[in-house]
Parts: sequence; structure tokens; C-alpha cells
Amino acid sequence: MVTSPNTRIWPHSASVNNLDHLEIGALDVCELAKKFGTPLWLMDYASIFQAQEACRLGLLNYPGEKTVLYAGKAFLCLAMCKIVNQLKMGLDVVSLGELETAIEADVKPENIFLHGNNKSGKEIERALELRHCKIVIDNMSELDLVVRLAKRAQTKAQILLRIKPGIEPDTHDHIKTGQETSKFGIGLSEVQDYLSYIKSNGSELDFLGFHAHIGSQALELDVYRESVKVLGALSLATQKDFGLKTKLLDVGGGLGITYVEEDRPPGLYEWASTIQACVSETYQSQNLALPHLMIEPGRSIVGTAGVTIYEVGHVKRLANNSLCLAVDGGMADNPRPSTYNAKYTAAIANAMSRKSAEKVSIVGKYCESGDIIVKDAGIEAGTGDLIAVFGTGAYNYSMSSNYNRTGRPACLLLKEGQADIILERETITDLTRQDRVPAWLEAKQ
Ligand code: LLP
Repeated sequence: MVTSPNTRIWPHSASVNNLDHLEIGALDVCELAKKFGTPLWLMDYASIFQAQEACRLGLLNYPGEKTVLYAGKAFLCLAMCKIVNQLKMGLDVVSLGELETAIEADVKPENIFLHGNNKSGKEIERALELRHCKIVIDNMSELDLVVRLAKRAQTKAQILLRIKPGIEPDTHDHIKTGQETSKFGIGLSEVQDYLSYIKSNGSELDFLGFHAHIGSQALELDVYRESVKVLGALSLATQKDFGLKTKLLDVGGGLGITYVEEDRPPGLYEWASTIQACVSETYQSQNLALPHLMIEPGRSIVGTAGVTIYEVGHVKRLANNSLCLAVDGGMADNPRPSTYNAKYTAAIANAMSRKSAEKVSIVGKYCESGDIIVKDAGIEAGTGDLIAVFGTGAYNYSMSSNYNRTGRPACLLLKEGQADIILERETITDLTRQDRVPAWLEAKQ
């Protein structure tokens, strides 16, 4: 039986010890909080490993080449890149920052895919300089820029076209990307123009194939089947009309995770195996060679690996009699509740079995009324208790800020009894590091 960590709220290695404390990676979370302080981001290596393993096994029956690309935007730092290397995944990057992080961590350029809807000349130049790094084309002026820069660098750009297959998963509007009105990618009716352009710039462009990413936190599989069918039809037309083969097919990521009990995403294994079956059937039935298949999950690889630990400070009863627990972090380390109305599950890390029927909200410390991490948490905590918020591995650190001049928490990687800092806690010095004071303001009054 393959485990798919995206279907459980807790990290793969989490348990409760005999002190009623949360344990992750065989480590008592309360001890970690004492040693490293709060708020604290924890990442469970076992969850990341199991998630990629579920993808790998799900793709196993695909008769062609296959690769799992990790979408770095979910969570990226040097240690995460090293994990990507170790687990033989490829990497999707969307900025010079992500690209250089990957290079510094020795991710091979041929395993890197540069995405984004407004790549700068600098980003494209760097990708070309690295050779074999793939560029996922989003729009015509970008394609034109790639040709000019490739000519100048006397190289050939390896490109994919990002397609809007016209399919929408049932998810928050801000994270839908497959529909015709999305700012990302190329509409089906425009693809012909791109292919003609590619044909006439064959010395600068090496066309590899297509990419589509329909959205994020998708909780159903049908949208992927539909997307693959659209891409299959497109590959057939491309071969017939332009003689261009789809050597590589990247069907994107977007599989959802279980933030709260009501979320029922398909497992990673089922997702990957459905995609591979659909791709082989679609391509074989059209007598097309099987492309190198890529899936590009981000959230479902790291989401449930992450747990944030906060300490409760002040507790307040509001006029509607609900109880508000204020914790020492909030929207700066997890902007998802205030951005997408995202829901999370919380527990008391130092008293895991303690529950309450009372309405309790866990609120952050930031100067914003919307800074509520969990509404109706169903736990009974007081000052000094440690709160664990589950499912914070994706799009928390990567979307975090220094709002209210607060330093980001530290992040630990937990593996079989070992805790290592992979992101240092930001200090006050870090916060003022980029500040400059004009001389005239320094002058004594
Ligand atoms: N590939 C492409 C081209 C993408 O744009 C994305 C996500 C992914 C893969 C990975 O999707 P995932 O498997 O992580 O769903 N900040 C939002 C999510 C934005 C997703 C952006 N693109 C959130 O916190 O829900």
C-alpha cells in the first residue's frame, strides 16, 4: 500500500508521545520549541520522501521516460534543493532568486525548468548561459526575446509552450490558471502562430513540447484527464501541421492537500497513475510517440510536511462570547488565511488530547483584523501553551513577509531524531540590513 501524505493532516512521521506532546521525526516538538524558540516552522523529511515516492510509484507503469518536477514556489531554500537532487526530482523555478538558489545547491541545469509570465532579459540570459535549462514560454514577446538573446549568445533555447487548455478546477479564483482568461500561458486558438514562429526560428529554438498547469489545490482528477486530452489533440495537430514532435509533456501540478477533515483530495499515487495512464492511452491511440512525461507538484510534496509552532500570549473573550487566543506569529509567516480564506487545523502541541467544544479563534499578532489563523479551532489553550498548526509546509515560508518589522521564524528539517536548522530565524539586524539613512537626516538638529 503506497502512502500519499497529501491525504492526511498530520506529517507522515507525527505521533503523540506519553507526555501527550506532539512528536515529529521522533522529536518532541515542545523540546524543539524550547531550544529553537517560537514561532517555528518544522519540516518533516519523511513526508517529503513519501510524497515523491507516491509520485514515482504512480508514474512507474508509464512506458516512456518520466520525471517528477518539484514546483519550488511552494517552498525553496538550499536544503530543499538538496532534497530535490537526492530524490532525483527536477525543479520548476520562476525567478532569478529561485534559479540561483538551485544552482548554488548544485541542481543540474538540465533538470531546471524556468517558468513565469514576465521573465526578464536577465532571467532568460542566465537560463541560456546555463545551457540545457528549459524555458517554458508564456507569451509572444517573451518568445521573441528568447530568440534575440539566444542569437546573441550563439546558443539554442530549449523551449516548451505553456498552454491554457481551457479547463478550470473547482478552487479559489486566485489560484485557477487553466482558463482562457488566465494571465498565464497561450490560448489554444493562438498556438498555431507560436508554432509557425518556432518553425521559422529553428536555429535559435529547440521545441520540446507543451506544458499546462490548470490551477492549485485541485480536489478532483477529471480536470487532469481533460487537460491531457486537450494536450494530446494539440500534439497530434502540431505533428501533422508543423512536423514538430512533442518530446516532452509537462502536465503541471496543483493536486490539493488535506488542510481540514472535510478536504478529500485524491492521493498523490492515484493522481500520478491516473495521469500516466491517460497520457499513454491518449498518445498511443493517436499513434504518437510517448513523450517524456513530467508532473509538477509543489503543495502536495511539502504541504503536509510542514507544521508551525506558536506560543499563546494573551487570551481575550470577545463581546460575542468567543475566545481569542493570540499567538506570537500570524499573517507574516502564514498569509494564506487572510489571502485565500484558507482553513487550517490546530492542536495543542503540549497537550494533544485537550479539546474544547467552545468557539476558539487563534489570531495572529499583526495589525490587521483579518489576521486570524484558525477560526473555531476546537481547542482549549491558555497563555504559554504551544499551538501546532498543520499543513503549513507549502506557500507559508515562500509567501511570508516582514510585516510589522517582524523577522521570519527559523525552519528545522526533522529526520529520524535529528533536527537541523535549514532557515535561520531572522534577527533585528537582518531587518535593518538594507536600511540606509540620507546624510541630511543624520545631521544634528
Ligand atoms: N506549476 C506551475 C506552472 C505553477 O504555477 C504552480 C503553482 C505549480 C506548478 C505548483 O502548484 P501546486 O502543486 O503547488 O498547487 N499561493 C497559492 C498557490 C499558488 C500556486 C501557483 N502556481 C496558495 O497558497 O494556495
